[in-house]
Amino acid sequence: MVFPFRLPEVVYLGQGALEHLSGEVKKFKADKVLLITDKGVQAAGMDKLVRTCIEEGGAQVDIFAEIDAEPSTDTVDSVAKFVRENGYNLLVGLGGGSPMDVAKASAVLAVNGGSIKDYVGIELFPEKGVPTILIPTTAGTGSEVTQNAIFAFKEEQVKKGIVSSYLLPRVAIVDPALTLSCPPRVTAATGVDALVHAVESYTALKATLQTDIYALEAIRLISESIRTAVSNGQDLAAREKMSVGSFFAGVSLANAGVGAVHALAYPLGGKFHVSHGVSNALLFAPVMEFNCVGNLGKFACVAEAMGQPVAGKSPREAALLAVRAVKELVADVGIPNSLREVGVAEEDIEFLTVSAEKQTRLLTNNPRLMTRKDIESIYRKTL
Ligand SMILES: NC(=O)c1ccc[n+]([C@@H]2O[C@H](COP(=O)([O-])OP(=O)(O)OC[C@H]3O[C@@H](n4cnc5c(N)ncnc54)[C@H](O)[C@@H]3O)[C@@H](O)[C@H]2O)c1
Ligand SMILES: [Fe+2]
Repeated sequence: MVFPFRLPEVVYLGQGALEHLSGEVKKFKADKVLLITDKGVQAAGMDKLVRTCIEEGGAQVDIFAEIDAEPSTDTVDSVAKFVRENGYNLLVGLGGGSPMDVAKASAVLAVNGGSIKDYVGIELFPEKGVPTILIPTTAGTGSEVTQNAIFAFKEEQVKKGIVSSYLLPRVAIVDPALTLSCPPRVTAATGVDALVHAVESYTALKATLQTDIYALEAIRLISESIRTAVSNGQDLAAREKMSVGSFFAGVSLANAGVGAVHALAYPLGGKFHVSHGVSNALLFAPVMEFNCVGNLGKFACVAEAMGQPVAGKSPREAALLAVRAVKELVADVGIPNSLREVGVAEEDIEFLTVSAEKQTRLLTNNPRLMTRKDIESIYRKTL
């Protein structure tokens, strides 16, 4: 089966990428720009830097910095209304996945109308949105290159994804210098999220030869640099490998999708407000251990890309080395390894299982069929 392969129209990737922002703003001939970001990014002073670049591109800029972490559908609905009412003709999303997801979704919602809740599913927007430029300040979600946006649905206490090719930004600017101020906790959680994107998309049923190239390189780059980036945030070389790795992982995720790690992680974000990266990190090794037999050859390649000694090993032994490598990496960057540590109790397992089972878009892309019983047993094992 042949799948479409999509990317933003223009990508600037690497040190100095931000220098291209003003030129890109000029090309849009936009006169009224909304810069969407959050308080943490603002405290690091990056909104001013970006604002200056946009103004050099000849546009007037307003800043909206009220984006909450792991944003809800209400946030998107209100930002879209604000965009519509004020006639912005270019949106710039600056931050981690939270501000970038809000920027791309509110850009499309502002044109199509209604609530973002009306568009849960695949390709449901009839019209293109206001153009967007996305600028990540974490090396993690890859949202700058994906056609997904993820929001918390407060009433149901779950997170759901909106998927549309119209969510792709027109321009992605990935400059590792913008991640230097990321604290170790954020670097660790977002970095492991990126690694999950690479491993899940590489072993996904929708993986292709084309996505495999991006995924494997992402696994190499992130595995060799995440410990340094967490331990010494000022190491620009490590930050650059993380930024490029998370972007490559995003390219692979955008085109091959992810699987059961994300499916089982979403309910943790929705109900227990555990950050997306930490939720994924908790379920990463347990789900991988379950998945290995679904594609021993590919998991063996994951182990090799993570620097494990696979020579002379059987595919099964090599594949299990990947699970070991992930356990060590998650522990080394200081992320909790049990659900209890993030507030989950025995009696919550039923809710988690029922919620995860509903993530059919992700579960049907997983390399091994996962039943309700399997989901429950993985949660129990991780408790
Ligand atoms: N669209 C996609 O394809 C996709 C993929 C994965 C995750 N997501 C979503 O993205 C969201 C999570 O994004 P995230 O993990 O990047 O975290 P985030 O955007 O919520 O940011 C986490 C924290 O880090 C701070 N921060 C960000 N950059 C900083 C910097 N350079 N210096 C100092 N502080 C900084 C923020 O202020 C915030 O407090 C979730 O809602 C998740 O579901 C989307
Ligand atoms: Fe993710």
